[in-house]
Amino acid sequence: MATRQRAGGEPGLGETLVSEQELQQRVAELGAEITRDYADRRLLVVGVLKGSAVFMADLMRAIGPEVDVHVDFVAVSSYAGTASTGTIRVLLDLRENPEGRDVLLVEDIVDTGLTLSSLTETLRARKPRSLEVATLLDKPDCRKIPFVPKYAGFKIPNEFVVGFGLDYEERYRQLPYVGVLRTP
Ligand code: IMP
Ligand code: MG
Repeated sequence: MATRQRAGGEPGLGETLVSEQELQQRVAELGAEITRDYADRRLLVVGVLKGSAVFMADLMRAIGPEVDVHVDFVAVSSYAGTASTGTIRVLLDLRENPEGRDVLLVEDIVDTGLTLSSLTETLRARKPRSLEVATLLDKPDCRKIPFVPKYAGFKIPNEFVVGFGLDYEERYRQLPYVGVLRTP
């Protein structure tokens, strides 16, 4: 396959930030924590597409059978390239009714906080019994709006990362680890 080349060179894959083994270990811990918190309850686990897909699949399987897990997805779009636009579009809505339910939103990364503050606000208006967020990665130094996820896998510095579901222009989602995007 020919490599696409842009003027000045295209960003490529840099060093590994979170290894496959670290990811597995941490996802297991988060699953155990969620299992304790929601034991003997019904939980609607909502993946935010597409970035959460890989984390979602692993996290679901790390939640024990003592939680009555139901699964749904939403898709929102808030990003073009590596700069946040702050504009959120709902591309796919829930199929389940969140009213009166315990809802856990699953995200790939919290960066500016704009996506999740807007999405949680939208969902709260639909009167869930509870609403919490589990994110694989958290960039706390990048907030434009305060947002604290209840469950966070790894706090990372202000770098653009890819892999384990996270993309740069739809690429690199399939990597089993999280790597830094290197700009030439
Ligand atoms: P926020 O609204 O700025 O918090 O951004 C949330 C969304 O931006 C995430 O769901 C990702 O899709 C995207 N995003 C933010 N930082 C990164 C990154 O480092 N790599 C890939 N996607 C990112
Ligand atoms: Mg993305």
